[in-house]
Amino acid sequence: MKIAVPKERRPYERRVAMTPDTVKKYKALGYEVAVESGAGSEASFPDDFYAAAGALVVADAAVLLRDADIVLKVQRPMNESEGRNEVGLLKSGAVLIAMLNPYGARADLDAFAQANITAMSMELMPRITRAQAMDVLSSQSNLAGYKAVLDAAEQFGRAFPMMMTAAGTVPPARVMVMGAGVAGLQAIATARRLGAIVSATDVRPIAREQVESLGATFVMVESDETKQAETSGGYAKEMSEDYKRRQAELIAETIKKQDVVICTALIPGRAAPNLISEDMLKTMKPGSVIVDLAVEQGGNCALSEAGKVVDSYGVKIVGYRNVPSRLAVDASSLYARNLYNLVALISAKSEGRLAVNWDDEIVRTITLTRDGSIVHPQFLKVA
Ligand code: NAI
Repeated sequence: MKIAVPKERRPYERRVAMTPDTVKKYKALGYEVAVESGAGSEASFPDDFYAAAGALVVADAAVLLRDADIVLKVQRPMNESEGRNEVGLLKSGAVLIAMLNPYGARADLDAFAQANITAMSMELMPRITRAQAMDVLSSQSNLAGYKAVLDAAEQFGRAFPMMMTAAGTVPPARVMVMGAGVAGLQAIATARRLGAIVSATDVRPIAREQVESLGATFVMVESDETKQAETSGGYAKEMSEDYKRRQAELIAETIKKQDVVICTALIPGRAAPNLISEDMLKTMKPGSVIVDLAVEQGGNCALSEAGKVVDSYGVKIVGYRNVPSRLAVDASSLYARNLYNLVALISAKSEGRLAVNWDDEIVRTITLTRDGSIVHPQFLKVA
C-alpha cells in the first residue's frame, strides 16, 4: 500500500505530517511512501532528505494522491469553496488521517462520506495510557505553552528574572497562567526557568498538585462544583454562571498584580471560557502582556484578536494563530511520531498493509466516516 503526504496549503501552517525519520519507519512497516515536493520545506526538511530516506518525491499533488491508500496531513484538506478541492483529489476508499477539526468543520464529514473516504481525526484521540504516544493535542500544546512564554518575553519591556546589579535591582516578573493543562504546565515550567514568579489557576482541583510541583502558586475558586469539573477524559466542563461570577472576582483581584498572563483555558467542542474582561484589562499595569493561546477558539481575553498583537489600555494582547506551527521543526517531528504510532497500530507488521481492528477503543474514538457513511456517534445526524 502507498502512504502519501501532500504539502499543507492552509494559511499559517508550516508543519508537515511526515519527517524523513518517520519515512524510514513506514518503509520498515512495508509501505511505499510518497511525499509532495516542498511538503517539508517550511519545517526545514528539504525534498532531498525525504528522497534519501526512501520516499518518492512527487511534484504534482493530484498525481501523488490519485493512487494513495493512506493520506497523512496536518490540517483538514481544503474544499472547493476554499479555492482548491483537495478532498476531490483523494481516491475512493482512501484512509485520511489528520487534525480534521470535526466540531468546527462539520460539513467536511458529509464530503468525506460521499467521497468514500475513511476519515480519522487525531484530536479525538482518547486520553488513555495506551494512546499517549498518539496524543497530538498534548504534543502540540506542550510546544505552544513554551512558545507563548517566549512570545510574552519578546513583547515585555522588562526582564523576567530578578537581577541584582551595581546600578540597582531588577524585580522578577510576575506571570499568571490561566488553565493548567498541557500548555499551561509547560508555560509555568518555562516562565519559572526564566526566573519569573509564577501563579496559575484552573477549574480542575487535580491541577493544584501539578502546578505546585513546578514551583508555582495555585489559586482557584473553591466550590463543590469543581469536584465534577473534570470529564472522564480529563478535560474541563463548562462551569455554572455562579461559579463564573466568583471566578471573575478572583481573577479581577489577582490580575492587577501581574506583569504577564498566559491564557490556555479550553473546553473541547465549545468556545473558550471568557476569563479576562475589558474592565479587568483597565486595572492592569501599563506594559503588561497577555498571550491568548485560546484566541482561535474565541479567546480567554475579551479583546484578543486572532493573528494580531493588540495594544489596549497600555496592555499588549498577543493573539498569534497556530502557535505550534511557529516551532514547525519540533511540532512536525512530534506530530509525525504521533501519526506513525497510530498507523503502526492499524497495520499488519512488515506487510505494508492496513489491518484495522474497528472495535479497538482508539480506532472507534477517532473514526469519523467509513464505507460511505458518518460512523462517529457524536456526529451522526439526528433524524
Ligand atoms: P485543554 O487544552 O482542553 O484545556 C486547557 C486547560 O484549561 C485545562 O487544564 C482545563 O481544565 C482548563 N480550563 C478549562 N476551563 C477553564 C476555566 N474556566 N478556568 C480555568 N481553567 C480552565 O486540556 P489539556 O491541556 O489538553 O488537558 C487537560 C488534562 O488532561 C491534563 O492536565 C491531563 O491531566 C489530562 N491529559 C491526559 C492524557 C492521557 O492520559 N493520555 C494526555 C494529556 C492530558
